[in-house]
Amino acid sequence: MSSESMEKIISLAKRRGFVFPSSEIYGGIGGFWDWGPYGVELKNNIKQAWWRSMVWEHENIVGVDAAIIVNPKVWQATKHTEKFADLLTDCKKCKLRFRADHLIESNFSEEEGLAYLEDIKKINNALKKIKCPNCGGSFTEARSFNLMFKTNIGPVESKSSTAYLRPETAQGIFTNFSLIKNSSRLKLPFGIAQIGKAFRNEITPGNFVFRSREFEQAELEFFVDPESDKKEFERWKKARLAWFKSFGINPKNLRLRQHRKDELAHYAKEATDVEYNFPFGWKELEGIANRTDYDLKVHQELSGSDLSYFDEKTGKKFFPYVIEPSVGIDRAALAFLCDAYTEEQAPTAAGEKELRVVLKLHKDIAPIQVAILPLSKRKDLSKEAKKIWKELSTYWRAEYDETQSIGKRYRRQDEIGTPYCITIDFDTLKDKAVTIRNRDTMKQERIKIAKLTETLGRKFKQ
Ligand code: GAP
Repeated sequence: MSSESMEKIISLAKRRGFVFPSSEIYGGIGGFWDWGPYGVELKNNIKQAWWRSMVWEHENIVGVDAAIIVNPKVWQATKHTEKFADLLTDCKKCKLRFRADHLIESNFSEEEGLAYLEDIKKINNALKKIKCPNCGGSFTEARSFNLMFKTNIGPVESKSSTAYLRPETAQGIFTNFSLIKNSSRLKLPFGIAQIGKAFRNEITPGNFVFRSREFEQAELEFFVDPESDKKEFERWKKARLAWFKSFGINPKNLRLRQHRKDELAHYAKEATDVEYNFPFGWKELEGIANRTDYDLKVHQELSGSDLSYFDEKTGKKFFPYVIEPSVGIDRAALAFLCDAYTEEQAPTAAGEKELRVVLKLHKDIAPIQVAILPLSKRKDLSKEAKKIWKELSTYWRAEYDETQSIGKRYRRQDEIGTPYCITIDFDTLKDKAVTIRNRDTMKQERIKIAKLTETLGRKFKQ
């Protein structure tokens, strides 16, 4: 996929109501996006699929929905206030701001780049050799920039009223560890899952929704016996890769990449990314980390609350290790869109060929599963079609559309990825049958209305 296809996907996303630049009427705001009518359905389906596979399908995993703003001591304990930072540098001429590591990675070979990234002195040496990609100017020395958004609690702005918008959902799980373990009577190994907003004041947001300043994360903290951390880490790597494939992502566009020691987050012993081959290159789609007992220990230390685990069988008290699969829902939605975007030559009614744009989304991920299209606006047809829409909408997200020609309506449904279109025609009133069109094969089949729900199958259960 090329950057040209990225432009096409961004344009389709806007034209069809998936994603809009946030507050566009005021010129937008960098790194923030609004998800439109089809975008919100797409994201909800991804979240539902994730929740089902991570929570419902595991007897030892439960969920939580913690507050976005927490006691700032949480970020002090985990060292996010100190270490959750990127090194940035400014162009002295055009004043554009860049991440130093990104500049080094794109200006040197992998080996050279890694050598420069070892410490701040070497980073500054490397920056002296790089020219600004925008204007050719030279760079200032790199300095650390914390990525957490600050806010104030209460009417008075002071140091003691400073709070942060969470940069990851994970901490709401660790701070509730004991409450959830005890109230849910959980025994190791067990997991706590959460989906929610996270905020990062990224220096260089970009590549559409890939790197945003406000995004949604779906995170699982899976608590294990420290002895079995390796085995569990391997298991979750395989499971997460398989999950993306099971929802239709082309396996050729997915790979696992282990983190080098120098790129590990300050809390991680080991980490592997599920990478996706985006139109702008192979990039992290999901991170899977072995966070060890780092978080529980630091929170116990600062809060004074007991966050250890008591093993009734052995009579031992210890801190479990944590394996954490963490994915951005917006980033996953982008990967699903890129993977599904297809251009093909399709036959027209006149026997010629025309370009067909189709999103070949898995049916459980597609924003609309079935479109109900009466052939004309004639009252008796509309009435019959609305009846079918009502029945089907109890099972799926069904869309009713009677505007424009049937050909145009098929194209529209192809572009938003609707797997099935049902056409109600004049014969329907006599034979109680409809035509069902398959998005991918474009084949049309006549079936009885009474057989519709059975033919389409239940969501998530095929
Ligand atoms: N709790 C671990 C954690 O937050 P991370 O690798 O920083 O780890 C996990 O983030 C996932 O969250 C990433 O793999 C990505 O999918 C998503 N993510 C992170 N930063 C993002 C951003 N600025 N915009 C969109 N998604 C982001």
